[in-house]
Amino acid sequence: MKKIVASNFKATHTRKSTKEFVEDVDSYLKEKEITNDVFIFPASTALDTFKLQENLTIGAQNGYPVKSGSFTGEIGTLHLDEFEINTILIGHSERRHILGESQKDIVIKYNYFKAMGYRIIYCFGEPLEVKNCGITETLGYILEQFDGIDLSYDNLILAYEPVWAIGTGKSATTEDIALIHKKIKKKVNKPLLYGGSVKVCTLQDILEVPNVDGVLVGTASWEVEDFKKMIYIASKMDKDSKKLICSMEG
Ligand code: PGA
Repeated sequence: MKKIVASNFKATHTRKSTKEFVEDVDSYLKEKEITNDVFIFPASTALDTFKLQENLTIGAQNGYPVKSGSFTGEIGTLHLDEFEINTILIGHSERRHILGESQKDIVIKYNYFKAMGYRIIYCFGEPLEVKNCGITETLGYILEQFDGIDLSYDNLILAYEPVWAIGTGKSATTEDIALIHKKIKKKVNKPLLYGGSVKVCTLQDILEVPNVDGVLVGTASWEVEDFKKMIYIASKMDKDSKKLICSMEG
């Protein structure tokens, strides 16, 4: 399977800079004839209808589980439909831990977007205090984040994102990733991404870990040239495992 590369813009990039970024990535995929699946998750104010290569998808970082209604500050599928968005991130740690979404809220959201046929990138991962308790506790914690989630859903991609690695500059080690990914894959045979301080320089090592089908990247993907380098590295890994260096061009 070709490696997946996804960029989560979070609350960065404006409508204008998103458009430039998306168009740049689209031309790059075309020019290099890269067919790996690439996702970009802009802020909701920057969603739009883009005419893109088939393998480049714009998704929503969030959505409220309704078509429309009295939910101040939220957007529903009416708004996402306007831009033909049918991919969404659910369960991201910032929504769980900063915005206070409970597993119950997440299950409601998951079931709604599943019923609407969305491609769901479902994120899960443990905080540092749980990791420090050991692998049994970590797996137990992760399994609780699968509570109520239909893992047999066809249009599902999973993303293991340890909370302590997100936005901290401190990625999980390849050993940590290998262990968790192996355990998860045994339980759920779905594409499984890693996320948490992935950088251009660490990408290839992470993509080489068994059971890593791709990456979900925040901070290090916000410069378009860096994101294109990541896409390039991922595309080369399908063809050969030649070591690519950080300073490469392309
Ligand atoms: P990061 O974010 O790459 O900045 O750690 C990853 C994510 O939140 O998906």
